[in-house]
Amino acid sequence: MLIIIGNQKGGAGKSTLTLLLANFLTLVKKRKVTVIDMDYQQSLAQKYEKAKLAETLTLNKQ
Ligand SMILES: Nc1ncnc2c1ncn2[C@@H]1O[C@H](COP(=O)(O)OP(=O)(O)OP(=O)(O)O)[C@@H](O)[C@H]1O
Ligand SMILES: [Mg+2]
Repeated sequence: MLIIIGNQKGGAGKSTLTLLLANFLTLVKKRKVTVIDMDYQQSLAQKYEKAKLAETLTLNKQ
């Protein structure tokens, strides 16, 4: 299953929704999740590298 979360508007809750949804699928639904972070800020990828909850692929890394 591929879920894409995107919106042009800043601060709309994209990163928060991605984090919560990935955690829910991993911890509650026991699904294997790969988060692909296409945001230049890479904030989600950095969080997941620390938490090691989900595998993370980083795109657009500066
Ligand atoms: N459902 C929600 N209810 C209340 N506050 C929320 C909700 N979702 C996100 N927020 C808050 O809104 C702010 C922006 O959220 P977030 O960083 O997830 O947005 P974003 O779309 O990823 O922003 P950016 O475009 O800067 O990457 C954060 O302070 C977050 O805690
Ligand atoms: Mg964000």
